[in-house]
Amino acid sequence: MTEIVTATQLAYDIEDVVLDRYQASAKEQQPSLCCPTEYEGNYLEILPQEIIEKDYGCGDPTRYVSTGETVLDLGSGAGKNCYIIAQKVGANGQVIGVDFNDKMLQLSRKYQSQIADQIGYHNTKFVKGKIQDLKLDVEEAETWLKENPITSIQQLGTFEAQCDRLRQGSPLIADDSIDVVISNCVLNLVRPQDKEQLFQEIYRVLKRGGRAIISDIVCDEDPSPEILNNPDLWSGCIAGAFREDLFLKMFEAAGFYGIEILKREDKPWQVIDGIEFRSLTVRAYKGKEGIGLERKQSIIYKGPWKQVQDDDGHIFCRGERMAVCDKTYQILTHPNSPYHQDIIPLPPYQEIPLEEAELYNCKTKAIRHPQETKGTDYHLTTNTPDDSCCSPGTCC
Ligand SMILES: C[S@@+](CC[C@H](N)C(=O)[O-])C[C@H]1O[C@@H](n2cnc3c(N)ncnc32)[C@H](O)[C@@H]1O
Repeated sequence: MTEIVTATQLAYDIEDVVLDRYQASAKEQQPSLCCPTEYEGNYLEILPQEIIEKDYGCGDPTRYVSTGETVLDLGSGAGKNCYIIAQKVGANGQVIGVDFNDKMLQLSRKYQSQIADQIGYHNTKFVKGKIQDLKLDVEEAETWLKENPITSIQQLGTFEAQCDRLRQGSPLIADDSIDVVISNCVLNLVRPQDKEQLFQEIYRVLKRGGRAIISDIVCDEDPSPEILNNPDLWSGCIAGAFREDLFLKMFEAAGFYGIEILKREDKPWQVIDGIEFRSLTVRAYKGKEGIGLERKQSIIYKGPWKQVQDDDGHIFCRGERMAVCDKTYQILTHPNSPYHQDIIPLPPYQEIPLEEAELYNCKTKAIRHPQETKGTDYHLTTNTPDDSCCSPGTCC
């Protein structure tokens, strides 16, 4: 299990403290929660001032989203990121904001119709849920609770069973349903004991090939016990900050690949007792699981590093014709892959149909001979000089 920053025995509940602070900050802007962030200006023009100023993000994950995508925003707050993305994904895309805070949900929904009318389509919704438990529709659970108040341990058990029924029967966010999960300054607010499940939930809801783009506050050293015991620093996005190296490892442990720092602010947002807290934006992909099939594909890693290793443990040596299975070949060479610019794909001259392909384990560092790519019957000779070679524009 990945090491995470743990709180000491606290005299308060982190979730309560976070909920209270952000209920208040939905009503009145709290400058101490604002981390300077730049968004692409043209998307802000149509947003009401109230949404613009209740911005408690620390980065801009919205700039990495494309037309037509279905996007889930974890901890959507006033809805600013969602409304920017609503314009970017267009009428064929969809945006879902999740928050567990009624005041923020009210604020984000307040301008929903107005903004939809302005952009010309309705593609955004806000739902109530905890981001570490994205199967549970909290509004549904609360409706049930109103009709079945809990006054005994037995009724608590009945409520928990009802929550499980909701999770199974009508999950708030279904498995494999989202192209991009984004979040802006929220993951740090989740209780340490729920953080591993949070990453598993992000993984669960993404489609194969989907990606997470997360801006959050990270620290360069473990927060001190004084920091961890301060409730204001929990709700202020400091005490729960991930140590930056462990943040990337959380993605790794959940099964992501192609994990990459897209932006790391030079200047810390805050420094406490010499510990620097700054904004980091990370991208990570889902979809490296599955079997390897032999279709005689190879790749050449272009460099500049002498060799590199992917999240499955494959090592690619610069300039070598590395033999890879079909799954790895697709991951490395797909135009949307985080690797494709560093890779030269070498498909076989004669394609092997998927249904004829045999199992292949490319975990070992195997070099593929050029004759395997071309086929042993390949004896073409093309080096005879020919007049047309010297006509303008045809020379090599
Ligand atoms: C720092 S604000 C960021 C809001 C928004 N992403 C932005 O950029 O302005 C954190 C938001 O996450 C919500 N939040 C915190 N923990 C949550 C949790 N476990 N589940 C759902 N929402 C949560 C809060 O209610 C609040 O609206």
